[in-house]
Amino acid sequence: MSCSLKQGIPLPVARRRLLIGCAGLAVAAALPAQVRAAAAPPSALRPRKGHVPMVGKGQPETSVWCFNGTVPGPSLRFKQGDRVNIEVENGLDEETTVHWHGLRVPNAMDGVPHLTQPPIPPGGRFVYEFDALDAGTYWYHPHHRSFEQVGRGLAGALVVEERAAPVADRDVTWVLSDWRLGADAQLVEDFGDMHDVSHAGRLGNTVTVNGQVLEEVTVRAGERLRLRLVNAANARIFGLRFGGHAPVVIAIDGQPVEPHEPAGGLVVVAPGMRADLIVDLAAAPSSRHAVVDAFSRARDPYRVVDLAYASDPPLRAGAPGPIAALAPNPLAEPNETGAQRHEIVLGGGMMGRRMHGLVGGTRMDMRQMMHNGLAWTINGVAAVGHMHEPMLALGLGRTYVLAMRNDTAWHHPMHLHGHAFRVVARNGRRTARREWQDTVLVDPGESVDIAFVADNPGDWMFHCHILEHQLGGMMGVVRVT
Ligand code: C2O
Ligand code: CU
Repeated sequence: MSCSLKQGIPLPVARRRLLIGCAGLAVAAALPAQVRAAAAPPSALRPRKGHVPMVGKGQPETSVWCFNGTVPGPSLRFKQGDRVNIEVENGLDEETTVHWHGLRVPNAMDGVPHLTQPPIPPGGRFVYEFDALDAGTYWYHPHHRSFEQVGRGLAGALVVEERAAPVADRDVTWVLSDWRLGADAQLVEDFGDMHDVSHAGRLGNTVTVNGQVLEEVTVRAGERLRLRLVNAANARIFGLRFGGHAPVVIAIDGQPVEPHEPAGGLVVVAPGMRADLIVDLAAAPSSRHAVVDAFSRARDPYRVVDLAYASDPPLRAGAPGPIAALAPNPLAEPNETGAQRHEIVLGGGMMGRRMHGLVGGTRMDMRQMMHNGLAWTINGVAAVGHMHEPMLALGLGRTYVLAMRNDTAWHHPMHLHGHAFRVVARNGRRTARREWQDTVLVDPGESVDIAFVADNPGDWMFHCHILEHQLGGMMGVVRVT
């Protein structure tokens, strides 16, 4: 089973297989409680082992590693400007940390083991404390052996509310995940498999919304939804289509963007990324519409979940009015004129051109790299162990352009810690919206220029958020002093 899974069963098949035998399957239509209400944030997160009803009724619970007993972990909510104070108590049998993905925190709070803090030992504690500078949709996850710790379920959403939120009838978060499950609904124990490392990462066979294989989400005709998507999957890139609805993107990676309908109606969210949408539920009461993932051109779209309209009459007549842009976050504007430019070449992987890399100063060919668990390079260097030597040293307060070129046959969502950057060019052409992001998807063969002010001092990770690519060497440190 695990062998055929690795070769990629089309999702609907695997999903049917897992769901087979659950006659009268009645997965709760509503979203889990923790995403429905703005609950007070817990003051403690406890990563530990647990069991969750991931696949649904009539199926065994899935053994996971999780924060506070749930997958995803508690949805943390703060107001912009709040002081965040969270104690993490490690209930795992191994070391861990928590990284606040996308939040511009002081370096010592960034949660990167050996780089910004010693890892938290089993039974140990660490208090993370920082200001919620930027409003938006973020998430948290361990940064220690992420490919396995995140892959086993350790992830949760973190929302920082605007002082003036956009008008929506409901504010809903979908944490999207992807799991490689056996027929027993348990995770296949092949984390870090070299085939995954050197190809597209650990793709699974079961997609969940807020930790469950969801049949449907109940909506009401006429309502306006603010939908926050978080991609917490190790490797799966989602390209969602909303079955005849026309979602408008209002934020990417938490940062406001000029409201727009995405190209081709496809909302692309790569691992690590977030998208905030306004979805007007304009279809008829009692109708049903599939939300599908149509990212892969190699495979037919598969259903993620249905939008199931209640029979209630429309909440309002007509559309709820124009969609206003969100207020910008207090980010330093990069001044590209005179900015220093650094070329960053992403290399390695199967079916690629760069068949060698530097590993700890030693030149290795791909075969030798693979023997050492590595497959990827940034500027010819494959990261191994705990990286301390920076690949780039940046001057505090100065503007930089990182010109990335993907010299591989694979997608790479590249993530920079401690900063947000503007995506200013793709393949040499200026972007129309100069999106602020913290994770940017670079397609095979594509070039992407990002610009930012290096205004947060410290050693920051820069890596691919396909966690098996990160494990396989696609990672580096950017030092800001
Ligand atoms: Cu979401 Cu370096 O992490
Ligand atoms: Cu990658």
